[in-house]
Amino acid sequence: MSKFINSTLLVSGASGNFGRIAAEELLARGATKVIAGTRDPSKLQDLAAKGAEVRKLDFDDAATLPAALAGVDRLLIISTDAVGRRATQQQAIVDAAKTAGVKHIVYTSAPAARPNADAGLAPEHFWTEVAIAASGLDFTILRNHMYAENVLMDGAHVVSSGQLFGLIGDRGTAYVTRADTARTAAGALLSAEGKTIEDVTGPAPVTNVERAALFSQLSGKKIDVISLTPADLTKGIAAAGIPEGFAAALVAFQRDAVTGFHGVVTDVVERYSGRKPTTFADFLSANKAALGL
Ligand SMILES: NC(=O)c1ccc[n+]([C@@H]2O[C@H](COP(=O)([O-])OP(=O)(O)OC[C@H]3O[C@@H](n4cnc5c(N)ncnc54)[C@H](OP(=O)(O)O)[C@@H]3O)[C@@H](O)[C@H]2O)c1
Repeated sequence: MSKFINSTLLVSGASGNFGRIAAEELLARGATKVIAGTRDPSKLQDLAAKGAEVRKLDFDDAATLPAALAGVDRLLIISTDAVGRRATQQQAIVDAAKTAGVKHIVYTSAPAARPNADAGLAPEHFWTEVAIAASGLDFTILRNHMYAENVLMDGAHVVSSGQLFGLIGDRGTAYVTRADTARTAAGALLSAEGKTIEDVTGPAPVTNVERAALFSQLSGKKIDVISLTPADLTKGIAAAGIPEGFAAALVAFQRDAVTGFHGVVTDVVERYSGRKPTTFADFLSANKAALGL
C-alpha cells in the first residue's frame, strides 16, 4: 500500500487546509522524507517539528521552483486558490518538475474537467491535466468532487430561511469531505503508479431534496426546495451580493449536477486512504454548529 514510503515526497501549498492534512497524513503513515512546500515557511514550524522539511515554494516565483524541487521523486500539486491564473501557475510547476527529474505528479483536479468556456472552474483544471499529461511524467489526476464543507457556506441561511434554492432537474452530488480527499491524495503519493485519472467522491449522491430533508431532521424545521432555471438562480445569487464571476461558477457547478457529472460514486477514497468516506449525514451532524444549530 505504501510502496513509495521512503521516496522524497513534496506537498505544495502545505499551509492550506488541504495541504496541511495531506502532509500530516504522510507523516502519520510513516513517510520518511516529507517536504512541505509553501509561500510562507514561517507558518509551518509545527510540521517541521513533526519531521517534515519545509521549503519555500511559490508557483508565481520561478526562482523558488528549482530549490523547492531538488531531489524530489513524487510531487503533490494542490490546485491554488488564484482563480483565473491557475492554468499558468500550474503549468510553471509542471515544467519545473520535469526539469528537476520528478517521476510522478499527483494533482487535485475537479469533476468533469473540460475546456468548455461555460464550465465554470473546470477549464483551468482541464488545462493543468493536459500540461501534466504532456510532460510525459507519470501522474494521478484526482478529480476531487464537491467538498461537503461547501454546503456550510450558506447552510445556516438555508436553515434559518427555510428555503434551499437549486436548479430544476438536480441529479445529486456525491459530497466528499476535504479531509477524506486530502488523505486520499497522501495515499496516492505513497502508492499510485502509471498514468490515471480518478474521481474522488463521497459514498452516495445527495439530491437537493435529500439535503433539505437532512437539514430538517437536524433543525426540526420545514425546509422547502425551490428549483429554478439557471438564469433565475444566477439572478438570485447576484441579488444576495455574490460577485458576478463567482455566481456564474456556482451555477455552473449546479448545471453539472443536473447533467449528472456530480452523482458519480467511486471507491477511490477507500482505496488510497484506507478508510471509508464520511457520509454526508455524518458530516452534517458533526457540523451542526456551523448551521446555527
Ligand atoms: N472540490 C471542492 O469542492 C473545492 C472547494 C474549494 C477549493 N477547492 C480547491 O482545493 C484547493 C485546496 O483547498 P483548501 O481548502 O486547502 O484551500 P485554501 O486553504 O484556501 O488553500 C489555498 C492553497 O493555494 C495555495 N497557493 C495559493 N497561491 C499559491 C502559489 N502562488 N503557489 C503555490 N501555492 C499557492 C496555498 O498554499 P500556501 O499558502 O501554503 O503557499 C494553499 O495551499 C483550493 O486551492 C482549490 O483549488 C476545491
